[in-house]
Amino acid sequence: MAKTLIAYFSRADENYFGGAMRYVKVGNTEIVVNIMKELIAADTFKIEMKTPYSPVYMTCIDEAKRDLQANARPELVSLPESIDEYDTVVLAYPNYWSTMPMAVFTFLESFDFTGKTILPLCTNEGSGMGGSERDIKKTCPGADVKKGLSITGSRAAQAKESAEKWLKANGLR
Ligand SMILES: Cc1cc2nc3c(=O)[nH]c(=O)nc-3n(C[C@H](O)[C@H](O)[C@H](O)COP(=O)(O)O)c2cc1C
Repeated sequence: MAKTLIAYFSRADENYFGGAMRYVKVGNTEIVVNIMKELIAADTFKIEMKTPYSPVYMTCIDEAKRDLQANARPELVSLPESIDEYDTVVLAYPNYWSTMPMAVFTFLESFDFTGKTILPLCTNEGSGMGGSERDIKKTCPGADVKKGLSITGSRAAQAKESAEKWLKANGLR
């Protein structure tokens, strides 16, 4: 039977919301993932770094930039044993410096996505999907990478309608 995995990266702690810094318990991307879990039947996997970025926003910004410039592949806490059983992977992540957090590259490079459909979902504060769709296609050459959904991070809690429409358009609802 066709199965869907929602794999996502999301950072709580201090973030920037329309001009002000705030500490949050659940990151924007995870808020959208939680909404999608109500809409479709899917397993979820959280992509977590062994050494997470700082809870302090400005420090995190620098750490993530350093990893991007180094083209780093941060070590993850864990990985699914296999993704063989999934034919569709919803890949959700924040826009970091116009692409995905480098830990998402670590995740993607850990599996063979040949023949699988990837639906990219990117929360951001204005840069949209950035170059992330292109980067996913490059990293997963055998996958069918669909048009992504961009969600404004600070409006994550209002994402239900657009998420539902996008999931429907991709045959998941
Ligand atoms: C390290 C870092 C880099 C970011 N770079 C961008 C960017 O280039 N463009 C953008 O629109 N937003 C950028 N943002 C904002 C995040 O994409 C946005 O707040 C996102 O919703 C965070 O998701 P999360 O709470 O699930 O981690 C950046 C945030 C961080 C922490």
